[in-house]
Amino acid sequence: MDKKVRIGLIGVGNIAQNAHIPAYLKQKDVELVACYDIKAERAKEVAAKYGMTAEDSLEALVARDDLDAVSVCTWNNGHAQATIAALKAGKHVLCEKPMAMNPAECEAMIAAQKESGKLLMMGFVYRFSASAKAIKAMTDEGRFGNIYHARAGILRRRGTPLGWFTDLSKSGGGPVIDIGVHVIDLTWYLMGKPKPVSVCAQVHNRIGDYKTKGVSRWEALDKDNLVFETEDSAAGIVKFENDVSMIFEVSWAINGQEEGVTAKIYGDKAGASYNPCKIYGEEAGYLSDNDINAGREDNFYNEIRHFIDCIKGDAQCIATGEDGLVVQKILNGIYQSSAEKREIIL
Ligand SMILES: NC(=O)c1ccc[n+]([C@@H]2O[C@H](COP(=O)([O-])OP(=O)(O)OC[C@H]3O[C@@H](n4cnc5c(N)ncnc54)[C@H](O)[C@@H]3O)[C@@H](O)[C@H]2O)c1
Repeated sequence: MDKKVRIGLIGVGNIAQNAHIPAYLKQKDVELVACYDIKAERAKEVAAKYGMTAEDSLEALVARDDLDAVSVCTWNNGHAQATIAALKAGKHVLCEKPMAMNPAECEAMIAAQKESGKLLMMGFVYRFSASAKAIKAMTDEGRFGNIYHARAGILRRRGTPLGWFTDLSKSGGGPVIDIGVHVIDLTWYLMGKPKPVSVCAQVHNRIGDYKTKGVSRWEALDKDNLVFETEDSAAGIVKFENDVSMIFEVSWAINGQEEGVTAKIYGDKAGASYNPCKIYGEEAGYLSDNDINAGREDNFYNEIRHFIDCIKGDAQCIATGEDGLVVQKILNGIYQSSAEKREIIL
């Protein structure tokens, strides 16, 4: 495929404008063609800025015959509808995280993908980081032996996003589905994607809508009608086949030290941490800690490059809809376990 890959965007808010569009613009073999947003004015503004056409409906966008693929960057409650419409119209799809609101929606997206024969890629952007690539290569080489435990986490002290994120009908949940999705996916991926069997978790809404001064937050473009209906922290254990376990802890707001992305895997030969990127093992009978010089890369650039390479047949997708479904089952299992006060078999 020598010609340019022609891209459309569905939902042109923060992540579309600040991550997807800049990453597409850095690719020489990509052309931005059209966009659609439920806010027609926003679609027009973004279209004008980047030389695209603004469409006034989802149907009109996906029906265009000059589009090869779309990025789905709507609120979480729009992912399934937009993805299915695009796939049915024969377009490849890169869908932002989380895949959808629940596993049933993910299954419908996968069914549409299978029927269309097009690509459905998940925007699991941490998988595309330099550190993730290095650790995953070592997992695949067997460097860690049998990986039997892991820790996934991200703790923000006061980092609740402003906007639709705390509106349950639009987001489907709080930090579990918003940032837990990243660290649970990343850790599961670095473990070598064992099959999950159960989840036992507790979610909390304890800090709620705070007025703390001097802190910054991710902001959606629209901040009207703010509600706070989701959890603000959560913790629990996911168990996998062959007695493998993962502990996770996530928060948007908690009274404790801020902790960035944590992904730690423990094998019977060695272990690894993602941040800092290190291997923990033994050498000549001594404990050894080895830094991995993975370097730094632009994760969104890598994600979008991979999407284009997959479309062109130059790469095999490493973040599939099937992966999205597994992660979604864990996320929704966390909510169900907490609500029903029991371990959920997945
Ligand atoms: N990968 C990451 O690190 C990352 C970071 C932030 C957000 N996200 C994800 O990106 C998505 C968008 O988040 P955001 O921060 O850009 O929010 P945002 O509110 O800034 O942008 C969303 C845009 O989608 C539009 N929209 C909503 N529903 C729509 C629909 N059904 N059809 C068409 N347009 C629709 C809104 O009008 C808005 O312009 C979310 O799924 C979020 O989880 C991912």
